[in-house]
Amino acid sequence: MSIAIGEVVSVKGVNIVVELYEESNKETLFYNGKKFKGVSIQEHILIKRGFKDIVTRVQGEYLDERLQSESSEVYVRKVELKPIGFYHQEEFFEGIKHLPMIRDVAYLMNDQQVRKIYGDPDESFVVGEILKEELPISLPWASLFNTHIGVFGNTGSGKSNTLTNLYTTLFSNKLDRLNGKSHFLVVDFNGEYTGNQLVANSDYKKIYDLDTRNDDGDKFPLSESVFWDEEVLGILFKATENTQKPFLKRIVSGRDRYKDSINGLSVYTKKTITRALTSTSPKKEFAELVREISDIVGAHDLKNLALQLSWHSKNSNFYYKNINTVLNGGEDDPTYLNYFDDYVENIQVRQLSPFQELRLRVSLQLLSDLVSGYVQFDHIQPLLKRVDSSLISLQRVFSIGENPGSNFLTVVSLRKSSQEVKKVIPLLLAKYYYSSHKECVINESPPRKTFHMIIDEAHNILSMQSNRESESWKDYRLELFEEIIKEGRKFGFYLTLSSQRPADISATIMSQIHNFFIHRLVNDRDLLLLENSISTLDFLSRSMIPNLAKGCAVITGTSFDIPMVVQFKPLAKDYQPASGDVDLNELWKDHT
Ligand SMILES: Nc1ncnc2c1ncn2[C@@H]1O[C@H](COP(=O)(O)OP(=O)(O)OP(=O)(O)O)[C@@H](O)[C@H]1O
Ligand SMILES: [Mg+2]
Repeated sequence: MSIAIGEVVSVKGVNIVVELYEESNKETLFYNGKKFKGVSIQEHILIKRGFKDIVTRVQGEYLDERLQSESSEVYVRKVELKPIGFYHQEEFFEGIKHLPMIRDVAYLMNDQQVRKIYGDPDESFVVGEILKEELPISLPWASLFNTHIGVFGNTGSGKSNTLTNLYTTLFSNKLDRLNGKSHFLVVDFNGEYTGNQLVANSDYKKIYDLDTRNDDGDKFPLSESVFWDEEVLGILFKATENTQKPFLKRIVSGRDRYKDSINGLSVYTKKTITRALTSTSPKKEFAELVREISDIVGAHDLKNLALQLSWHSKNSNFYYKNINTVLNGGEDDPTYLNYFDDYVENIQVRQLSPFQELRLRVSLQLLSDLVSGYVQFDHIQPLLKRVDSSLISLQRVFSIGENPGSNFLTVVSLRKSSQEVKKVIPLLLAKYYYSSHKECVINESPPRKTFHMIIDEAHNILSMQSNRESESWKDYRLELFEEIIKEGRKFGFYLTLSSQRPADISATIMSQIHNFFIHRLVNDRDLLLLENSISTLDFLSRSMIPNLAKGCAVITGTSFDIPMVVQFKPLAKDYQPASGDVDLNELWKDHT
């Protein structure tokens, strides 16, 4: 049946040593018209033990000497093997269940047998070749895409290409069968997927190229009900949990209450300003807030009046400079009635964009809360500042009013977005799609729809350390993704993450990833972390990671019986992510 190459001479634990016959030193051998690979490191060897065929992998080899007679000694070649599984009735099972005994015979394995170990070779999901055996490898897609996937490796090691390869292969094989049942979202920090990648047919693909630098970019649609939500606003403006979130909640619930009245906002504005200017215990900030509000609603006269108010800190009241008098408070205060009332009554809030309306409501709520003594100005002011500073860029990337359609594949490119927007949008997308998907499958178990969120360069949003943001915001950000990675599977919501620094990514997230595609990685900390979070990574594959070639990855995890090293096949030029290396030969060409 096959070529016998040696005999077992030692079994210690799972370390098996086989002494090879003399003639076993060839690279390739042919037997009965079948091709066999010779014995070298990482190669597979079969050991017959009764009716079981134990599959082992070569870990190392060495020469041993043996005394033949008194004077001459010969060297024998010995190989160290580790069992990885066994064949039972032609079928491969992974895991160490059987071990050989001394004198069992070892055989070479033919291509057919090796292929069987790495999944069914007849399947069409071929993404590349096993590095050592050079056999086309078909990934078990059915058990791969219902898991969380991590793609790791140094910059330029081929992560984006691998990601693209995986999903391009999936889509090109099964597009029709996936459509309507599964949705895919790509968060693209560097605009690598805005061309032909993944799906060439533009009917299936919706690209949002968000641009915070000017008004030319696409706008991501959010329906009113999604936008006017304290959680969403909290994400957009990085609200703190204790004071700012409840503040936003009051804004949202206040708006809901008077949503149906036509003049609701005008009435609310008038009432709030009146309350502030007739307050018997006014505060310094009132004047500024009244000015802001007047500005937003276009009440220029009132704004000018408010500019004339100066704060008298000893008496704790406002001094109206124009006519040397003070605002005493109370509804029948003559100063208010004579000089302010008419202007306040004249306020008419015109149609505002959702963002302007938000800006107005923030000021109104703050003024109203201050009048009631509900909040401290200092607690809310940072939020106000953030709203002011991010309003313009958010306006450029969102259009409020429509619902994001349910496209088969959505690509959100953040290449032209500000750092600020890069941080909030992935979170917003995750939150929005996770909750709407959950809602959609809440009564189904198992879910009949799936959602796949693909984040290239995930360290941008999943990193543990960041000096630029507050602790509470970081916690919130991580918690959301931790919830998705812990709970998402039950709802059919899966993450695919790619990153250069696995060590930077939250440990909770790393530990929940099911399947890993590890490209070249050299940093010790990253490697150590991988070793700790991947139970299935063996020593030999692990030792190869720092030296892997471009597009070559160790694949391991729950969907794969044993770790394997795969060289991904390069994609056609048109379908590669826009992340190629600069060709200096071409760039620095002598044009003379
Ligand atoms: N399977 C492959 N075969 C041959 N070349 C590849 C393969 N995969 C990637 N490359 C080449 O490697 C280079 C970098 O690839 P890629 O952009 O995918 O790396 P990356 O890991 O995503 O890098 P970064 O972390 O900077 O985003 C590209 O020039 C690409 O052409
Ligand atoms: Mg990349």
